[in-house]
Amino acid sequence: MCKYVNNPYRQIDPAWEKEDCAAFKRDDIRTVHQMLAEYQPTPLVALPALAERLGVGYILVKDESHRFGLKAFKALGSSYAIYQFLRDQLLASGTPLSKCEDVYRDQDVIEPGGFTFCTATDVNHGRGVAWSARKLRQNAVIYVPAETVPARIESIRAEGAEVIVTDGNYDDAVERAAEDAVKNGWQIISDNSWVGYVEIPRLIMAGYLTLFEEIEDALSGVKRPEVVIIQGGVGALAAAAAWHFNQTGSTGIRLAAVEPVDADCLLASISSPGGIPTVSQGTQKSIMAGLNCGKPSLAAWPLIRSGFDMFMTISDDYCIKAMRSYYYPSGDDPRIISGESGAAGLGALMALCHEMSLAAARESLGLDSRSTVLLLNTEGDTDPVHFSKIIKEKP
Ligand SMILES: Cc1ncc(COP(=O)(O)O)c(C=O)c1O
Repeated sequence: MCKYVNNPYRQIDPAWEKEDCAAFKRDDIRTVHQMLAEYQPTPLVALPALAERLGVGYILVKDESHRFGLKAFKALGSSYAIYQFLRDQLLASGTPLSKCEDVYRDQDVIEPGGFTFCTATDVNHGRGVAWSARKLRQNAVIYVPAETVPARIESIRAEGAEVIVTDGNYDDAVERAAEDAVKNGWQIISDNSWVGYVEIPRLIMAGYLTLFEEIEDALSGVKRPEVVIIQGGVGALAAAAAWHFNQTGSTGIRLAAVEPVDADCLLASISSPGGIPTVSQGTQKSIMAGLNCGKPSLAAWPLIRSGFDMFMTISDDYCIKAMRSYYYPSGDDPRIISGESGAAGLGALMALCHEMSLAAARESLGLDSRSTVLLLNTEGDTDPVHFSKIIKEKP
């Protein structure tokens, strides 16, 4: 059963606290990504035939399945945060600024193996941390939930990281990683945040701005979207979207967050008395593994709380329908390879267009036959076995 909640805390021109958004104002984010040999803007793809089928004006999809060859957007965050962390360490030890800024280009700037970066992950963030660590010849230890599929574990190991499979869910893995990091003197590079740990998560969220800037470049001359749907796990991506679309003269854009019914921490938080970070009561067993998070990130929440218009949840059925619709395109639309969490945005749009019970949600978003909708395909087939099973059937 899909649910939605309009945001009673939405502000048209959000008055965010300085420290909540200082990282987003940094001017070197894209420059740092451009230092990476694999950096290339990912495509912004139009799906006009699908738009016609769903009864909306136009659909644009930012296809992050092509990001850095890692099949997901997440490494934008970890690569930027790790860069800033190392730059600060090197500066503190007296290294000249010009050398500190060269860590991704010059192998000799930093001693190999001096740091161990550690995080919990539903996969994509951990793979990004492992990838960044490998590039810099540093170590990575990545904690994953018990039910993580072998292909995803292997994709992290392939980046040279140690992977620890924990007994519990994502939230348990977060706790275990934080405890072990303190015991072992490792540096946590988490996209999630909690009391006393916010600075690196803020840098990670800032790193995601590159994908929104690329969207702006690709939009020049194209009708701007009126509705944007963003997947929510801990909310770091949503916070970056909130910052971006509330800053860039995007008046009139409606932002909707989508989560699995089973892991609805953003919807639970906005629905709580006072709209404060609240734990989801769901079982966190959705196939949308990257979104199976029980608690919102503390650093992300203030941006989401006043920067989003609507919060909705979808069942796995809609995610499956969306994966198939991307894979078997309508008309002359191009094919998109979209994994479970990647397809959630389209799943939400399909639910909005098909479910009678969501008529009021459509109206709140102003979603009609003229609307241009922006979706993010945040991941490709990161679990190829499950992906093949799903696309065996046509939509
Ligand atoms: C593919 C994918 N999409 C979306 C998200 C949600 O991002 P966030 O946890 O920042 O809300 C994740 C999180 O890991 C993910 O892996």
